[in-house]
Amino acid sequence: MKELKDKIALSHLGGGQKRIDKQHAKGKLTARERVQLLLDDDSFEEIGGLVTHRTKDFGMEDQKFYGDGVVTGYGTIAQRLVYIFAQDFTVFGGSLSETHAEKICKVMDLAIKAGAPIIGLNDSGGARIQEGVRSLGGYADIFYRNVQASGVVPQISAIMGPCAGGAVYSPAMTDYTIMVEGSSYMFVTGPNVVKTVTNEEVTAEDLGGASAHSTKSGVTHLTAQNDLDCILKIKRLLSYLPQNCEEKTIDLPFEFGNEIREELETILPDTSNKPYDMKDVIAGIVDLDSFFEIHENYADNIIVGYARLGGKSIGIIANQPFSLAGVLDVESSKKAARFVRTCDCFNVPMLVLVDVPGFLPGTDQEWQGIILNGAKLLYAFSEATVPRISVITRKAYGGAYDVMNSKHIGADFNFAWPQAEIAVMGAKGASEIIFKKEISEAKDKTAKLKEKEDEYAALFANPYSAADRGFIDEIIEPKATRRKLIKAFSAIQNKVVIRPARKHGNIPL
Ligand code: COA
Repeated sequence: MKELKDKIALSHLGGGQKRIDKQHAKGKLTARERVQLLLDDDSFEEIGGLVTHRTKDFGMEDQKFYGDGVVTGYGTIAQRLVYIFAQDFTVFGGSLSETHAEKICKVMDLAIKAGAPIIGLNDSGGARIQEGVRSLGGYADIFYRNVQASGVVPQISAIMGPCAGGAVYSPAMTDYTIMVEGSSYMFVTGPNVVKTVTNEEVTAEDLGGASAHSTKSGVTHLTAQNDLDCILKIKRLLSYLPQNCEEKTIDLPFEFGNEIREELETILPDTSNKPYDMKDVIAGIVDLDSFFEIHENYADNIIVGYARLGGKSIGIIANQPFSLAGVLDVESSKKAARFVRTCDCFNVPMLVLVDVPGFLPGTDQEWQGIILNGAKLLYAFSEATVPRISVITRKAYGGAYDVMNSKHIGADFNFAWPQAEIAVMGAKGASEIIFKKEISEAKDKTAKLKEKEDEYAALFANPYSAADRGFIDEIIEPKATRRKLIKAFSAIQNKVVIRPARKHGNIPL
């Protein structure tokens, strides 16, 4: 018993007190502290705490630490089972050896078999340099499992220290990445290699810190101020997701009452070319303080995130008129498409709020492939089998009308506010094209354009033509939106869609 207790005590010390102090001095928690904070009290059960590496080269035989730089096991978060691995920077800088990788693979395999989420807390100097290709093989074993687990159980990666080289590809293949500001970075090649190859001078923070990846690349979905904030955000994110692809999300208690929200009546400006904040619409619809935004600072012309509606978890995809008039471009299409697919694979019903003037024109967008990227969003909505409901608050123009979860691509309910304008394009642009001859021949061209614009607007800058066709199921008062949506989601919650058999679809990438 003494031998066992001594070994366990040693394993809990990781790389030793000195290195633990160093970790704390950087403002970082240790792997074990992170695990304890993330999981419910006393719920953690460790697996492989006494594993050590097998390397003999470079004097490694004399440097062994129980656990080999990663704490692995299972426990509960809000009483729900999760599997977890947390890299321990105090042991060889959290670097990944063959045995370290085997430990991670073991919990991943168990999580897939048990149908429980996998949470990875990354803090690592990368491949264990003393092990060479054995370490690289270990990474590939993890990547392979990331793909096997994809769409089966939720996978969440927190980056709480370095994550460089090949190591980045595991988080990149999980459902969510969250980076801690100031103490984490991710890049394929670090500042030194960048300097040698491209002659650019850049710091690790500027190249791959939380700010770069949350605003420029979109690699991280969320950022956190520190380790504790990161852990709280993981818990919150998990609360909107089910255990696996065969389960539904967990409902919070809710009693249907007076679900009229007067504040929704006054959000739209008096003219249709003025912006407004779609987040006010979201706040007016969903349960109090329940909106949890994803990718907040990336492609902010579209908003994506989770919320609760009548106690149920939903995913929201909404154009944001406050940014670029809510237009769809390459980045917003990619961001939304990814979110739609994540909601669909984990049975989260979707609410789509539409105010979109179309796709962003220009050589920049065309050459970056707006065709293929817009197609991603169209494809993602079209293949989604979860309950899907749209509300057009104002503009729904052109191809973007089709793309934003229109009836034609499988939405279950389509509502519109009375101010909605559902048309091929805005009245001015449309008049300039179809009445070109009449306008050019008129004495007062401006007056003629205005006359034709009004004529076109009267016919198409409204939701009635679409409602007449049944493309819109109902035109609703803004204040009744929440009430309508709670009822509609409830009416479609047991939706079943049978797709034709195939290996897998071929989404444009
Ligand atoms: N393999 C083996 N040991 C590693 C390691 C790796 N990839 N990365 C770090 N370590 C060890 C260090 O030797 C050091 O050991 P010690 O505690 O016995 O002194 C410990 O981890 C901490 O590293 P240190 O360099 O002191 O920490 P730091 O915070 O100053 O720097 C890094 C962190 C990650 C920037 C730095 O360690 C580094 O550049 N590591 C190599 C990264 C790399 O090239 N990885 C391989 C390719 S993917």
